[in-house]
Order: sequence, then structure tokens, then C-alpha cells
Amino acid sequence: MNKTILCIGAGYVGGPTMAVIADRCPDYKVMVVDIDAGRIAAWQSEQLPIYEPGLNDVVKRARNRNLFFSTDVAAGIREADIIFVSVNTPTKMFGAGAGRASDLQYWEKTARDIIENSDRDKIVVEKSTLPVRTAEAMNRILGSNDKGLHFDVLSNPEFLAEGTAIRDLESPDRVLIGAMETPAGLKAQQVLIDIYTRWVPREKIKTANIWSSELTKLVSNAMLAQRISSVNSISALCEKTAANIQEVSEAIGMDRRIGNRFLRASIGFGGSCFKKDILNLVYLCEHYGLPEVAKYWEQVVLMNEYQEARFVENIIASMFNTIAGKRIAIFGFAFKADTGDTRESPAIYVSRLLLEEHAQLAIFDPKALANAKLELQGVAGQVEYITDPYEAAKGAHAIAVLTEWPEFAEYDYERLYRIMEKPAFIFDGRNVLDHRKLYEIGFNVYPIGQRALAHLEKIK
Ligand code: UDX
Ligand code: ADP
Repeated sequence: MNKTILCIGAGYVGGPTMAVIADRCPDYKVMVVDIDAGRIAAWQSEQLPIYEPGLNDVVKRARNRNLFFSTDVAAGIREADIIFVSVNTPTKMFGAGAGRASDLQYWEKTARDIIENSDRDKIVVEKSTLPVRTAEAMNRILGSNDKGLHFDVLSNPEFLAEGTAIRDLESPDRVLIGAMETPAGLKAQQVLIDIYTRWVPREKIKTANIWSSELTKLVSNAMLAQRISSVNSISALCEKTAANIQEVSEAIGMDRRIGNRFLRASIGFGGSCFKKDILNLVYLCEHYGLPEVAKYWEQVVLMNEYQEARFVENIIASMFNTIAGKRIAIFGFAFKADTGDTRESPAIYVSRLLLEEHAQLAIFDPKALANAKLELQGVAGQVEYITDPYEAAKGAHAIAVLTEWPEFAEYDYERLYRIMEKPAFIFDGRNVLDHRKLYEIGFNVYPIGQRALAHLEKIK
């Protein structure tokens, strides 16, 4: 074997990333450890803990060849030459920076585990999203060991998106590797470059100083989210006028300076990264005495919350100002299509608001029902989790589409119309359905950023 790589944290980032590295570097031993024994058992089984297209095949090729999953963090650290840290960094919920700053307790614990279990120099790679200058703190903690050991800290932020993680890892737009600008730092950077060049063209591997690398991750996510919030803000204006957000998005996206990606209006962005990373950026700006910059970015998150709230207000207003006791079928709970992940999904907020209004929810999602159940645990109200869309819609007054699963467009809406209460409503929070056709079937259709197609408009 060439070198031994360890990844601490077997989540949505650590698992797929290590699987691809192991697949592409058969002469490296790759170990993935986690304190969550259930998660590790799932990685070792046929039923992987996360749903990600293409992941099964990659794991099957490498597992037990040069890819190993274990709960023995200490043994993993002892054996490793290179340690990726991919533990969770949730938003801090207490003390200074609560609700904004990253909670670094998992990271710090990991750094201490590394010192305790190491007996030779190692490279430590930040893979989780972290506030700028975390590497410095890491350097301090790792450098404070009394064993005379030297650790090189690198920043190698992850840009994979869920649902396309394997494709993103196999042919990334870029791989960013930040290092300390010292001879040892640059040498460590080269070790990581040697791994990625096995399958990534050298010109796509970008080196940077460690602070730029850390900041790039936050800014990348903030700018993607900003595009969505910008389009969503305009969707509100479109609904008041005769403009159509899809036409506007398509037309502005044809300008190559703007580009056509990430301009889909929606009920709002979700996922584990966007909100957390922006709040992190906001906190950093405040910390460094830049309140104007902090406010500028905070608005991206506020606009997202406005969009979610607006969607629910629209449902209530359209359904004669009351949804109490009405069954509403929720189509899609995942924060986006092709994943079972529900972290920060707009569906959570929307469902809670609907339940507060005493609606009865029938939730259907092709992959995320188990996580949906966890998200709504303890929330008062009547909720059913249903594995068939037609069952969910039976007797419902409305369907609310909250995730852009392509299969939603394939359903038999004539059949759905027949089995629903009348008047039947569809609130397409992702603009994935054929609105004109639904209207002709008899539905009252409420898209995002487009005029409603409602038979009842006059009565309202
Ligand atoms: C994101 C970044 O894309 C990725 O680079 C980073 O590593 C992690 O965070 P992810 O959260 O997996 O990835 O999903 P992404 O595809 O970015 O979508 C985020 C949210 O925005 C989803 O809720 C999605 O539905 C929504 N979205 C996306 C829109 O509402 N409109 C769009 O045009 C695009
Ligand atoms: P991400 O989306 O960033 O991958 P996840 O929450 O999916 O985040 O994964 C992070 C993983 O890190 C979890 O499975 C969690 O159990 C694990 N983890 C957290 N702290 C430690 C630790 N000290 N040692 C090992 N694993 C840890």
C-alpha cells in the first residue's frame, strides 16, 4: 500500500468522498471511522446510510479491498498518514455567536483525539465547512502536543452537492487545496495533489493559502444561495404582475455573464450548508467589525425565510382563509431531489406552519419519509407518512409540491383529481408540473412566481 488515509466522520461528505478516493487510488488504504456505530454498520451493509445515485456501485467496488469502515477512531488515527476531518459543524446554539457561529466542539474533540493517538507526524485535512481561521486554531491545538510531533493542517473544502455527489467527486469543477505557506505546508499540499491527480486534471486543482481556501467554501455557498434568494425575491413581484419568473429566469440566464444555473424559483433553499455557511459568514463579518457586509449577506437568509412563509400564506389565502381540518398532501419532504436528506428542508418549516393552522398532513416522499418522521417528531398535529402518492392525495383538498422530484411530473393527475376533495388545489412550490394541463383537468393551480390558474379566482 502507498499511504493510509483516514476520514473521521462517515456522513454525507466523508462517506462518498472516501469511497471515490478509494475507488480511484487502489494502492491507498482508506479507512472511514465514526462514533455512530449504527452509521458504520450501515456503511458495511447492503443498505448504505445515505441515498446517493451511483454511490452503491463505487462502494461495492472498493469496500473490503482498500476501503474500510470502523468505529475504532483511535486505531484509525494511529495507522493513518493523512487524516481528513469530516465531522459535523452545526450552528452553535448557545453562548457567544449562538445561532450564527459554528459549534466547533466536535472539531476540537477530534483534534485532541488526533494528538492522543498519534506517535508520528501526520497531515490533517479540514473537510468540513469551518469558519475562516479554524486551521489556525487547529494548528495551535495540534502544535501544543508534548510528544514533539508535527502536524500539517490543510484545507480541502468539499463542493459536492447531494444527489450529484458521485458525479461532482469524479469530475469536479475544481479541487481546492489550501496550505500554510511554509516549506512543510507546501510539501503536505503536494501529498494531497498527488492523490487528486489520479483522476482530476492538474489544471483543475487550485492551490491557495489556507485562509483563502476556507473563505472560498463559505463564499461559494453564499453566492449560490444569493442567486436563489434573488430569483425568489423577484418571484414575489411576478405573482403580483403578469410577469412569469420562469420566462424571466430563462432569459436572464441566456446572458453568459450571468449563466443559467441556480436560477430556479422555489419555496426556498434548504440543505445542511447554505444557511449555516451564510450565518457563519455573517458572524465573521460582525466579528471583524463589518456590520454592513454582515447585513448584506444576512438578507439572503431572511429572503429565504420570507419565501417559505409567503408560500404558506398563499395556501391559506387561496383555500378560503382556513385550512383547519383539511387534508393536505405533501409531495416531497427532502430538501432537494435525488436525496433522502431533510436537513434544513423548507418542507419542515412549511409543514410546521400548516400544522399550526390545524391542517391534516399526508406526507409522501420517494426517499425521505424516515427522515421526515424524525424532523417532525414531537410537533403537535395530525400527520401521516404515506409511501404512495395516490394514497396521500386520497380525500385531500390540496397537494403541495415541496421537492423537485422529476417523477412528480409523471403522475396521473386525472386520477389524482378524481380522488381528491373539490375544489382541488395544487401549490407547486418547485414549478415542476404542467400547470396549464392541471388547470384543464379542473385543479386550481398556484405556481411560484407566475399568475395562479384558478377556476375560483372570482369567488375568492
Ligand atoms: C450545496 C452546494 O451546491 C455544494 O457545492 C456544497 O458543497 C454544499 O451545499 P447541496 O446543499 O447538496 O449543495 O444542494 P444544492 O444543489 O446546492 O441545493 C441547495 C438548495 O437550493 C436545495 O434546497 C435546492 O432545491 C435549492 N435550489 C437550488 C433552488 O431552490 N433553486 C435552484 O435554482 C437551485
Ligand atoms: P456532513 O454532511 O458534513 O457529512 P454528517 O452529519 O452527515 O455531516 O456527518 C458527520 C459525521 O461525523 C456524523 O456521522 C457524526 O457521527 C460524526 N462525528 C461527529 N463527531 C465525531 C468524532 N469526534 N469522531 C468520529 N466521528 C464523529
